[in-house]
Amino acid sequence: MNGFFLVLDGIDGAGKSTHLAFIQQFLANERIQTLYTREPGGTELGEKLRYLLLHKDNEITPDTETLLMFAARSQHLQQLIYPALRQGKWVISDRFTDASYAYQSGGRQIPTERIATIENWVQGDFRPDMTIIFDVPVAISQERVAKARQKDRFEQEDPAFFARVRQVYLQQAAKNPHRYAVIDSNQDKQMVQNHLLHILSGCLKQWKGKQ
Ligand code: TYD
Repeated sequence: MNGFFLVLDGIDGAGKSTHLAFIQQFLANERIQTLYTREPGGTELGEKLRYLLLHKDNEITPDTETLLMFAARSQHLQQLIYPALRQGKWVISDRFTDASYAYQSGGRQIPTERIATIENWVQGDFRPDMTIIFDVPVAISQERVAKARQKDRFEQEDPAFFARVRQVYLQQAAKNPHRYAVIDSNQDKQMVQNHLLHILSGCLKQWKGKQ
């Protein structure tokens, strides 16, 4: 697949959405063909699953939640991500499988091996080319979420849940430093953008190298 798969991830309130516009501008300046998408969601079915997963009033067991995340992901990969990458596009996804490790394994405490088993079933050895983790201390992320909007089913969880989520993101990044970049999102916008610019330039070089 000739494209480039870039994932943005991190705990709720870490600032993914804020910095997306900067990434869009960078890639537009480079005249790169892009597909922006998100998880859970992206496809028609995936967006329906997203509604079920995020809606506060739904009772969903941790196993069901995990399986629905991967059901949406499977559809997303087959219908959108793989075809776009085959066409040579850059796919930029707001969250991907690391969120399942972080929220379902870290947060809900499903054993990691189970997530790995489903990951291999759904994705084989397909992994993102680069995952950018936006990182902030839990207290800051909670303040941001409280100010910003009505909380969804995940955002209502307590700080201990998010501390586990954050820890897993950082562990995932530490295990595979060549495929991850961690941005300290608790600094001013300009500093975050400087770091993003550095990461994106590296991705561009990597992508051009494999063409
Ligand atoms: P999010 O990406 O934060 O969207 P918004 O910015 O609109 O709130 O919401 C998605 C939520 O889904 C988020 O709380 C994390 C959760 N999630 C999982 O628990 N597991 C997953 O595999 C994915 C993709 C998301």
